[in-house]
Amino acid sequence: MKPIGTDSVPVMVSGPPASPVSVGSEPPFIAAAAGRPAAHTPVWFMRQAGRSLPEYRAVRGEGSILDAIKQPDLAAEITLQPVRRYGVDAAVLFSDIVVPAHAVGFGIDVAPGTGPVAEHPIRRPADLDRLRPLSPEDVSYVTDTVDILVNELPKNVPLLAFAGAPFTVGSYLIEGRPSRNYRFTKEMMATQEHLWHELMERLSESAITFIDAQLSHGARAYQLFDSWAGTLSRRDYDRYVAPHSRRVITELRSRHPEVPAIHFGIGCDHLLESIYACGATVLGLDWRTPISDARARIGEDLIVQGNLDPALVLAGTEAALAGTAQVLADNGGHPGHIFNLGHGVVPETNPEVLAAVVNAVHSATRNPAITGMGNANHGDPV
Ligand code: CP3
Repeated sequence: MKPIGTDSVPVMVSGPPASPVSVGSEPPFIAAAAGRPAAHTPVWFMRQAGRSLPEYRAVRGEGSILDAIKQPDLAAEITLQPVRRYGVDAAVLFSDIVVPAHAVGFGIDVAPGTGPVAEHPIRRPADLDRLRPLSPEDVSYVTDTVDILVNELPKNVPLLAFAGAPFTVGSYLIEGRPSRNYRFTKEMMATQEHLWHELMERLSESAITFIDAQLSHGARAYQLFDSWAGTLSRRDYDRYVAPHSRRVITELRSRHPEVPAIHFGIGCDHLLESIYACGATVLGLDWRTPISDARARIGEDLIVQGNLDPALVLAGTEAALAGTAQVLADNGGHPGHIFNLGHGVVPETNPEVLAAVVNAVHSATRNPAITGMGNANHGDPV
């Protein structure tokens, strides 16, 4: 039998119901995010909606990504492209972590090949005046995109909201461009602690408003990206960052108690316990931390997302599938696993390798005891 997701004709793995979508059963992503057995281990990829896809390059056009994000039809189409092509189990909204700062007129753009750049970074208290509070109307183009997607996505493919965590967004606003050593960010922590916390509080409120808006329009889970938190010592993370990320997660839990939260950073092995203490449902792991190590440290019930090295995907199908098998072995059949890369898809990635990874995860983890929404046969994966 063909692995699930390789064919546009629904393939049932056990008896009735005859339809791949049965009311009342859970999408695999939602089940795994709660640690419940799913029809197969769900898969999605950070940065799946992007430059590695020829169909993305075909519709993206010139100009800033921030302008593309402002066109709901285009943003919805780009969000759907990887769902159609790969049969992934979640769609991640085509947006960016600097959208809220841009939307309040802070003066930040995303330079192609570089990343976020701000002409006038935050260095002193008066600079905070340029970061007024975000209101949902400022990002109505994002919620318009969510509205389209909630209608168009297959029922078994939830839409993921996301925002940058206060530290990672703050580092761009302070440095003014991507940084290797986070010199000005760390200088502010060390010499202007009051200003630092004031900035973090504003960025926490903005992340809450941004994610709340997406969830209120029908996104079903969210990821908080603290991509660069690994640059900090554990002591500094606990003092300068953790209280703010915890506030974001706690507030969103009180507004959306059922919604799973994924908390992710790169190079954060030394911070895992501290990140976990911020309260997210799912811990996102990069490729450095074996899943079994994370559970040995934090607890056997830990629900994880990850963590195939994106470099192995560049190394071709054979290497990628060997890495995939290793990730699944590290997870040891635990139901609380969402398969992903350990960081985003890189632009040079061959989409056929990712398609093979999706099919391998689905077929290796298929659980005939669970029927219903498991069949991710909602498109024609190439
Ligand atoms: O995951 C997805 O497919 C959804 C879309 C998404 C984008 N950015 C679109 C994007 C997501 C989840 C992000 C998050 C993001 N943006 C993060 C956190 C995750 C991570 O990868 O670490 C960060 C740090 C950013 C900031 C940012 N935006 C960077 C560093 C870049 C790359 C700049 C470059 O060109 O090398 C961007 C631009 C960006 N964001 C692109 C996409 C598809 C590519 C540029 C384009 O198409 O114009």
